[in-house]
Amino acid sequence: MQRVETEIARLIKEIDYDEVTKLFSSLSGGKRLRAKLILKIAPEHKDAPLLAAIVELIHGASLLHDDVIDDAMTRRGVTSINASNGSKTAVMLGDILYSKAFTELVSFDKDVAQTIAASVTALSKGEMMDVKMAENFNSDESLYLDMLYLKTATLIEAAAKAGALLVGKDAEKHALYGRNLGLSFQIIDDILDITATEEVLGKPAMNDYVEGKCTLPYIYLYEELNANDKERLVSSHAKEISKDETLWIQEKMQEHTTVEKSFQLAQNLSNEAQIAMNGDRELVGILETMIKRTF
Ligand code: FPP
Ligand code: MG
Repeated sequence: MQRVETEIARLIKEIDYDEVTKLFSSLSGGKRLRAKLILKIAPEHKDAPLLAAIVELIHGASLLHDDVIDDAMTRRGVTSINASNGSKTAVMLGDILYSKAFTELVSFDKDVAQTIAASVTALSKGEMMDVKMAENFNSDESLYLDMLYLKTATLIEAAAKAGALLVGKDAEKHALYGRNLGLSFQIIDDILDITATEEVLGKPAMNDYVEGKCTLPYIYLYEELNANDKERLVSSHAKEISKDETLWIQEKMQEHTTVEKSFQLAQNLSNEAQIAMNGDRELVGILETMIKRTF
């Protein structure tokens, strides 16, 4: 992974603006999941670290913009750029990272470049769907999964597929692996918002619903409730709710095992991805760590 960090540092230096170097150094790098996938799938390819750096810059740019859209105060455990330097700076830094990434991407073969580029259109569409869908209670599971796929899974899918294209491995199987990894990652995230404590999350538990996000455990709960209870659930959507109301939702979720049902879907997606990778120990290991995580 050091090779990816070296490439990222080189690309930032090439932008040749101290302000950008300074702001970029204040960001936390995160898990670098997308970069890890590219290096694991195409370890022997000389341009794999550059492609991995490009994808991480795109991901970083999308998070800078997302934090402006979400009014987020923190990102990856540190103060977000919009909170420390204002939204204008966050948008401009995102623009610079994103366009530098694309400047480098055009030197790759067309299939690789197109795979990554198309995923960024999908990602942006997914973000808009996410914001739009939070305006009203959504009980449509397939619409929710479509949005998750676009917002979170497409760039992971594209990273895995592009890595495979670089070295002539099976692109479709790797795309399926990345897609399912991304989807199950996000489903686990949604579950942790309900089951983890505030200390672990670094934000209040059950915050997704307050923000209007009807994640899978809420969608499955809605399906199970009677008409009166459906109305009660919907009336709590997208607002700060009392402790009693939060407890009621949690009890109903337990009664109808909606967290378990959501986990089962994440597990099924992960199993399908494992089969596609046919025993590749490292790629299967990433899936297992992700499914078992508690934060
Ligand atoms: C995080 O979602 C957001 C994303 C993964 C994608 C955001 C995409 C854009 C803003 C499109 C713009 C793209 C570019 C390249 C400039 P979240 O808010 O559910 O998760 P969080 O808790 O990590 O914020
Ligand atoms: Mg966000």
